[in-house]
Amino acid sequence: MRKIKMLQCADCGKEHDFDDNDYDCTSCGGNLHVIYNYNLLKKRVTYRELENNRNRSIWRYMDFLPLSSGKKLPVPEVGFTPLYRSEVIAERLGIESLHIKDEGRNPSASLKDRASAVVVARALELGHKIVTTASTGNAASSLACVAAGTGIKTIIFVPKTAPAPKIAQLLVFGATVIMVDGSYDDAFDLCVQASQEYGWYNRSTGYNPLTREGKKTCAYEICQQLDWEAPDKVVVPVGDGNIISGLWKGFIDFHKMGFIEKLPKLVAVQAEHSDAVKKAFEGDGEIKPVSGKTIADSISVSLPRDGVSAVMSIKDSQGAAVSVSDREILNAVGELGRETGVFAEPAAAAAFAGLKKAVKEGKIEDGDTVTIIITGNGLKDINSAMKATGKPHLIKPEIGALKELVGKHNLANGG
Ligand SMILES: Cc1ncc(COP(=O)(O)O)c(C=O)c1O
Ligand SMILES: [Zn+2]
Repeated sequence: MRKIKMLQCADCGKEHDFDDNDYDCTSCGGNLHVIYNYNLLKKRVTYRELENNRNRSIWRYMDFLPLSSGKKLPVPEVGFTPLYRSEVIAERLGIESLHIKDEGRNPSASLKDRASAVVVARALELGHKIVTTASTGNAASSLACVAAGTGIKTIIFVPKTAPAPKIAQLLVFGATVIMVDGSYDDAFDLCVQASQEYGWYNRSTGYNPLTREGKKTCAYEICQQLDWEAPDKVVVPVGDGNIISGLWKGFIDFHKMGFIEKLPKLVAVQAEHSDAVKKAFEGDGEIKPVSGKTIADSISVSLPRDGVSAVMSIKDSQGAAVSVSDREILNAVGELGRETGVFAEPAAAAAFAGLKKAVKEGKIEDGDTVTIIITGNGLKDINSAMKATGKPHLIKPEIGALKELVGKHNLANGG
């Protein structure tokens, strides 16, 4: 593919041929980055062309994706998610502006659809019949969703703790689901072994270099929605670290193309006991395993699979990292819902909790324009959501009972 120069290892720098290598570095097992020929891309595409492109999905960015034809594509439309402005929260936090990128509006209700769509399109180009992945839940449900109707079968490895709605999505989309009696990390290792044994194409995050390529389209959209400007700060929930490194890649692409003038600083948000990337960023850069325990299942990771690239993205952007407790995450679910109408799953709400923490710790300043990435929809984990909220009122179907309730809680005036 002429637009792609090579794949390059994030750890040791070794170069690989794009068409000869589907997964990680053959020397050190590090994650590979897709390196584009920007001179060629500059001749092929201008920001005006992107602006006038009527395609309302990530496929409008086909020139920047590692796909040759785009003739066979998944059916569900991925991307083009809304970017809301919240003046109320911006004012309260004392920042210049706040935008909320609602990735829960993707077909399977998470940002992961961007990655899965690119991986499935590549699998179709390569003629694969089976795609597998390990996942805490969202990557799997997105893979099963975008593979539906393409003729590709999906075989999914999830830890048995994955929330039921995500499992329901998988089954509805026709995946074969293998629940592993162990952690996400166990599921990951088993999935790699399975793909080596049976030749299944593997989408797993941090193993397949194309997931980052799909996720970067979220950054492209933010730039376009902000009229070809990046915000000062982008706040991102981090587990494996692939979303944050994908976003960075997206901003870098558009910067290299001359579509945006300045790059944003990335603020990584991790759960308190699932903070290997934060620790590495603030320490010696080395990723060391942590317990990974948090209510936010999608960012519950002991050993991040794309940790090196995640730390690099935070450092290169001169960004910062914060950690948040499970209580702060649950409070953020409710607060975000009440104040913006966006229902976030705990991992996604962590971005909002992290924003508040970053403001408190002086990592986000008064004049900053900020975008937070709400990476997945709250309906994916209603048990956690119910812990974040009060209970409904239960009454007899009688006006007397209603009057009693209205009086008790002053509901006549809104409560
Ligand atoms: C909703 C949600 N938020 C955040 C993340 C974290 O992304 P990453 O593991 O690439 O850091 C995930 C990953 O599963 C997710 O599903
Ligand atoms: Zn390497």
